[in-house]
Amino acid sequence: SIEAGSDLIIFGAMGDLSARKLFPALYHLHHCDLLPEGTRILGVARPEQGLDDFLLHLKARVQPAIGADRWSEDTWMSFSARCDYLVLDFAERRYYQALADWVSKDRTAIYYLATPPGLFDQICTHLDSSQCLFPSSRIVLEKPIGHDLASCKQVNEIVAQYFTEENTYRIDHYLGKETVQNLLVLRFANRFINTQWDQGCIDHVQITVAETVGIEGRWSYYDRYGQLRDMVQNHLMQLLCLVAMEPPNAMTAEAIREEKVKILRALRRIDDSNVAQSVVRGQYSAGWHQGNAVPGYLQEEGCELKESDTETFVAIKAHIDNWRWAGVPFYLRTGKRMPEKLTEIVITYKSLPHNIFSGSEDTQNRLVIRLQPNEGIEMQMVSKQNTLKSKMALVRQTLNLDFLGSSDLDRIPDAYERLFIDVIQGDQSLFVGREEIEESWVWCDVITQACGRQNVKIKPYHAGSWGPAKAELIIEKDGRAWNV
Ligand code: BG6
Repeated sequence: SIEAGSDLIIFGAMGDLSARKLFPALYHLHHCDLLPEGTRILGVARPEQGLDDFLLHLKARVQPAIGADRWSEDTWMSFSARCDYLVLDFAERRYYQALADWVSKDRTAIYYLATPPGLFDQICTHLDSSQCLFPSSRIVLEKPIGHDLASCKQVNEIVAQYFTEENTYRIDHYLGKETVQNLLVLRFANRFINTQWDQGCIDHVQITVAETVGIEGRWSYYDRYGQLRDMVQNHLMQLLCLVAMEPPNAMTAEAIREEKVKILRALRRIDDSNVAQSVVRGQYSAGWHQGNAVPGYLQEEGCELKESDTETFVAIKAHIDNWRWAGVPFYLRTGKRMPEKLTEIVITYKSLPHNIFSGSEDTQNRLVIRLQPNEGIEMQMVSKQNTLKSKMALVRQTLNLDFLGSSDLDRIPDAYERLFIDVIQGDQSLFVGREEIEESWVWCDVITQACGRQNVKIKPYHAGSWGPAKAELIIEKDGRAWNV
């Protein structure tokens, strides 16, 4: 039980995710006193080393991630006192005996698998046969969970042999982002938003997830996945669901998941008949980022191919075939090596039925929900220009809700901080359910297959640009434009 304390057992503790995200998040939680007393953290990895060397390695990575102005040697010392390290070859059963000795059935064991998914099977089997599992044990799974529906089901089935769905936490770190949670509050705690949220009022929705980074040394993983599987299947689909779902009757994981699944099922399939008009795929060639030359996808470290059909950019025009969203397109766009790091959801409202202000053309309201950077919500409104020169000159102005400025924190917590708290407390509402993830693969698989059959070719774009020109057309041909 939580009272007796939880044990966080991190498989892959020497890996990149642990160093960049997991341990910095745990450090922050510890610093803010948000880790329940008695929480123990066990790093599990292959390198033969003692706890001191493990902590030295961690410190060298965690300190820069925290930043000099926030770093506290005292916090690190007391944080380290919670940590332990265990050498473990994931594939070898004999190593798990030491783990069985370490865990205790009176405490909640949380197994966090920050490892390649190919290892999930072995790890679960050995945990089980070595008596490391108790009815209260939880498992946390990092993406990717499969690369298509069949492989996703396989992973889910293996895990389900050892853990109930209530004890299975599938991470989509976008759900832990403060702004994403704020989307739920915006929609369901504000009556005037809630009543203006359907095809009667909304013209279209845009979701953009643009990154400046390339593939960051992950060529062999990325080339098998591409942007559709790496970003759309999980992060963009989750955002789309949260924008589009019906109000859940409570903030419970079950109620939220049910509503999300309904949206995924209502998403119109993009198949051979419409893929050419609905999907644009791109791949970056060499270009520039902030004045520095950056290589093209095929020149990235680790690439041994002369050509590749993997997309690093994708734009999709999607439709949700239900009563609320009939006729409202959802334009999705995500890419690597874009000019800026930008994640935003833009809701564009319909034009006025009759405009009494002559001379003003564009009176559409726009609601911009910005996940990063400058986390906040902007409502673009039309108001009167403050002038005597003209009686009714209209001007577009912005109501701005700045999340950082309006909070008592001096930083926006990282998604993993929220997610760790929730796993420890046993709250699954920000984790992805089995049905959701499988439905999402169904939709993406149909697109992948249709792209293959209809030969939807990769269009090159220069690193540092907003993707291939065709990505503009996908929205411009409908008389609309991307917000950025
Ligand atoms: C990961 C993807 O899930 O999300 C990466 O695998 C991507 O390719 C990352 O860079 C983006 O996350 P964030 O939080 O930086 O937007």
